[in-house]
Amino acid sequence: MKDEYLNLFLKRRSVREYKSEDIEKEVLENIIRVGMNAPSAGNQQPWEFIIITKREILNEIPEIHPYSQMLKQAPAAILVCGNPECKYPDYWVQDCAAATENILLAIHAEGLGGVWLGVYPLEERVKGLQKLLNIPENIVPFSLLSVGVPKQESEFIDRFEKKRIHYERW
Ligand SMILES: Cc1cc2nc3c(=O)[nH]c(=O)nc-3n(C[C@H](O)[C@H](O)[C@H](O)COP(=O)(O)O)c2cc1C
Repeated sequence: MKDEYLNLFLKRRSVREYKSEDIEKEVLENIIRVGMNAPSAGNQQPWEFIIITKREILNEIPEIHPYSQMLKQAPAAILVCGNPECKYPDYWVQDCAAATENILLAIHAEGLGGVWLGVYPLEERVKGLQKLLNIPENIVPFSLLSVGVPKQESEFIDRFEKKRIHYERW
């Protein structure tokens, strides 16, 4: 297996500890560019993104989302939001999940670290973030991603399980 491939896809890990370095706006926008390149049903691209770098906003999020304490140290976060009012409303969740995973891989490819913080479908988190960030009611916060310079290098963990693969029929 090629080293680059191994590093990009297999060494991505959730990173919850960061150095106190800021992330440039341009880098964050490039990461989102990769998110916007995700596949979506009928190419509807039913997503919107919020970049959060203000310390007071980042510090407030753990009041809404109990498993996001790392945001108190992270220099930035990206909120992926879905717009269900699109041509294929049954698929907006999958579309936003694809964008989220693309963003996670882009964060890692930039030499940065982040973690997917689940938002949708938990109502408290969805409503809490809509209120905190002035998000219109028809736009649904889907996932939040922390972004920062990792304190440690991520490791390769082999999760391959041959028994989970079925050939031709189950
Ligand atoms: C839908 C979803 C929600 C998650 N929510 C949280 C969360 O709230 N807090 C957190 O620290 N990690 C969260 N994670 C990260 C997982 O804990 C992590 O991906 C998993 O333990 C595997 O580790 P890895 O990402 O390092 O491979 C979430 C991941 C997904 C896909």
